[in-house]
Amino acid sequence: MEENHELQPSSIIIFGATGDLAKRKLFPAFFNLFIEGRMPDQFNILALGRADKNNDDFRKYIKENLILFSRNQAAIDTHWEKFQSHIIYFRHQIAEENSYIELNTKLKTLDSEYGVRGNRLFYLSIGPDFVTTISEHLKNTALAANPTQDRIIIEKPFGHDKDSAIELNKLLSSSFEEEQIYRIDHYLGKETVQNILAFRFGNSIFEPLWNCKYIESVQITVAEEVGVESRGGFYEGTGALKDMIQNHLLQILCMVAMEQPASLDSGEIRDRKVDVLKAIRRIPLDQVDHYAVRGQYGEGFIKGKNVKGYRQEDGVADNSNTETFVAIKFYLDNERWEGVPFYVRTGKRMREKQSYITIQFKPLPQSTFSGGKHELSQNKLIINIQPLMDIRLQFMTKKPGLTVQLRPVEMVFDYFSCKEDSPEAYETLLLDALEGDLTLFMRSDQVEEAWDVVKTIQEHWEKTPDTSFPNYTAGSSGPQECELLLQREAHSWKEIHNI
Ligand code: BG6
Repeated sequence: MEENHELQPSSIIIFGATGDLAKRKLFPAFFNLFIEGRMPDQFNILALGRADKNNDDFRKYIKENLILFSRNQAAIDTHWEKFQSHIIYFRHQIAEENSYIELNTKLKTLDSEYGVRGNRLFYLSIGPDFVTTISEHLKNTALAANPTQDRIIIEKPFGHDKDSAIELNKLLSSSFEEEQIYRIDHYLGKETVQNILAFRFGNSIFEPLWNCKYIESVQITVAEEVGVESRGGFYEGTGALKDMIQNHLLQILCMVAMEQPASLDSGEIRDRKVDVLKAIRRIPLDQVDHYAVRGQYGEGFIKGKNVKGYRQEDGVADNSNTETFVAIKFYLDNERWEGVPFYVRTGKRMREKQSYITIQFKPLPQSTFSGGKHELSQNKLIINIQPLMDIRLQFMTKKPGLTVQLRPVEMVFDYFSCKEDSPEAYETLLLDALEGDLTLFMRSDQVEEAWDVVKTIQEHWEKTPDTSFPNYTAGSSGPQECELLLQREAHSWKEIHNI
């Protein structure tokens, strides 16, 4: 194991360290960064929680969870002893100023051990309701007062609609500089999502085709096999539009649709993404039903196993109107994408977990092979995000044989053929935050524009409960209306196994 000598000594302060995200994602990510020599020479993780625990108990709990969730099981025995010495449990009450004063004293002690004033990374792994309280206390106690050294990471959902996001941004900007605020969307840390930019702008052959002259439609699917699991209470007030579309799917759409950034500068890349969000045509309130479909899963079977309907999940009302599936047709009003529909869909309890982008190219206007016995299928580019991680280009070739017959074939780039094990999204994002790189984090205007894109859909759905819920069976590919959304344009969803 090497150490990262380039990084300043750092204290990482996790609010909500006993929660689900911390045990499943944050600690495993820090552990992997540690064994790969990516953590600073000197660092401490201050795990904040309400309960009275000692370091040993908390460290034991983290080790048990690493065994469950780390992608690097084999390294636990070798590296645990050293890693655990960096974890400090700190009893803390979010609403009490005294707790922050004590935290300040602790951080100063760590600074004197480092021999310098260390960087501070405050990770708010807590519900959105606590963001205001914590940031006000951080401000009052000047705990994060150094704009170049102190950073705040905020989990999604960032607000619950456009107005609340603006409010929250205002509040945060009264306490911190924008450069200190890291609004996380973990999809941006996924290897395959980051690769979209490399693929588009690192090659000369795709970009000339990447526009409405050659592309007929774009589809983005994020299908999940899981239901709401133990998060029913949270999900009831959220739903798929706020949980997935406003952030993850719109961010993927931005990567697919953005103009070429002049450089890799974080401001430049984020500007180009905001341009996309601004160009998305807003759906008029009275036309929401024409452009958007919602669904909620009922009982069904997934891989032969019977699973509950959403309304039977813990913490969910038995007449709940919360959507667990959304499909939307978007158009972008700019020169590049004039008239090209962007279809996005996401759902829980779908047939299988699969996230992918399909770029459907236009048919040939005129071909030597047109008509007669030759059936030409349109060229497609499929970018598999997870769990398959590959890029597939489909094109026509001659079938080997004495007669001229055509058939579609695929050219595939598979991530796993290059590297068995790629970093998890949180590893990439946490390292970026330690290094002070904001590129993969959301800026205030990005979040607000993204809320603006879904605003009318949100308003319409809140006002008009869907009386057909539950309208899709667990283990299916969503409600029937989702097919109709595309059939109106003579398109159809590309299911990954039939593409
Ligand atoms: C989270 C959502 O942001 O993303 C969850 O809150 C969802 O509801 C999850 O399950 C999906 O993430 P991933 O990385 O498993 O695709």
